[in-house]
Amino acid sequence: MSKRDTLLIRQARILQPEGEFISGDVLVQGGKIREISPDISAGATDADIAVIDATGLTLLPGVIDPQVHFREPGLEYKEDLFTASCACAKGGVTSFLEMPNTRPLTTTQAALDDKLQRAAQKCLVNYGFFIGATAEVLPDLLSANPTPGIKIFMGSMKGDLLVSEEEFLDRIFAQGDRLIAVHAEDQSRIQQRREQFAGQTDPAVHSQIQDNQVALLATQLALKLSRKYQRRLHILHLSTGDEAELLRQSKPSWVTAEVTPQHLLLNTSAYETIGTKAQMNPPLRSPRDNEILWKALLDGVIDFIATDHAPHTLEEKGRSYPNTPSGMPGVETSLPLMLTQAMQGRCTVAQVVNWMSTAVAKAYKIPDKGLIVPGYDADLILVDLNESRPVRREELQTKCGWSPFEGWTLTGWPVVTIVGGQVAYERGRLHTEVRGKALTFDKP
Ligand code: DOR
Repeated sequence: MSKRDTLLIRQARILQPEGEFISGDVLVQGGKIREISPDISAGATDADIAVIDATGLTLLPGVIDPQVHFREPGLEYKEDLFTASCACAKGGVTSFLEMPNTRPLTTTQAALDDKLQRAAQKCLVNYGFFIGATAEVLPDLLSANPTPGIKIFMGSMKGDLLVSEEEFLDRIFAQGDRLIAVHAEDQSRIQQRREQFAGQTDPAVHSQIQDNQVALLATQLALKLSRKYQRRLHILHLSTGDEAELLRQSKPSWVTAEVTPQHLLLNTSAYETIGTKAQMNPPLRSPRDNEILWKALLDGVIDFIATDHAPHTLEEKGRSYPNTPSGMPGVETSLPLMLTQAMQGRCTVAQVVNWMSTAVAKAYKIPDKGLIVPGYDADLILVDLNESRPVRREELQTKCGWSPFEGWTLTGWPVVTIVGGQVAYERGRLHTEVRGKALTFDKP
């Protein structure tokens, strides 16, 4: 074995699958976790083994971010697969699932293959790409491979990726059995309310136009269609207490839902402090929605967390509403944001890991990821739960160069990020030669 193939992580506080921690060593070989034991230091005498001293650090499975917009191809002035994957490595995100609203749209096998090829050349972390649905059911929608599933924008989208009519949605739900992930906002209510609020330039109006009812109507429709065909459904970035209560009352066993750190930790008061940077789709809601979403996450009504990393340049975000694009970056801050909540007692570290890794791997049937057990992929992160540091703009890797959380002091920043047994980030330094792999997805 060469030095590149074997890694010994010594004296870490290791998260076990049951949520307990043990102190010990982890041996990584050929990209896999080989052994976990209180002391494997004997092997460390071998000169071919790279050793990481993890004293004082906590070892967790790498984050799997199941909803990101990385802009390549076509919108590389905002972000590209290299810069985005550097941001991932720095944020402890070892795998991502990316959305089809790039240029060209990812609606064909050829466009998917192009993204996979680009990622193989540029990405420091593992990658998967959704296939986008259009009103016309394109042949590749059902056969495209590998993909975590079909993405449908029911609202908040222009052009071919917008599928808002029930008739067209029904046709997509009726065919095939692969996972359907929905951006649930009702386009006709958005249009109607845009007219009602026309001329208003306060960005806070965004949350009024695309109000709770906009989200609830679309989520109700997606659930109706999912029940009709017993079709595997995932509800992306659930944003309202109303939707969470709906799912709490009745959630089919084949339905999952996610929430973003933004919808848990920010609310409409953010428009006063960061203006149009707080504009996203679905929009930020009230403090009451924050509370209900948190409770739904803690109770298992919401299954996991995604960032919806959606970078736009400062110039674009500096325009006046409604000429500003919606979206905020997130992959660099999501884990420390959530670990900070754990350190403040709102949840446990084990719950954060379940929401940001284990449950995501399970829902998308990504084999051998999301747990620290022998035989699983060595996608691992070491975090420092004893150190707090502010989010600083100058340290960000995302090409857009800003964060809605600038100035927030966070605990639990990644110190080392390991992707398939290779160190991709270590104590402020990116190892830009490391490459991730295409994710695979087991059949439903
Ligand atoms: O705010 C958003 N921006 N929400 C989305 O779902 C899309 C995203 C983007 O691509 O900018």
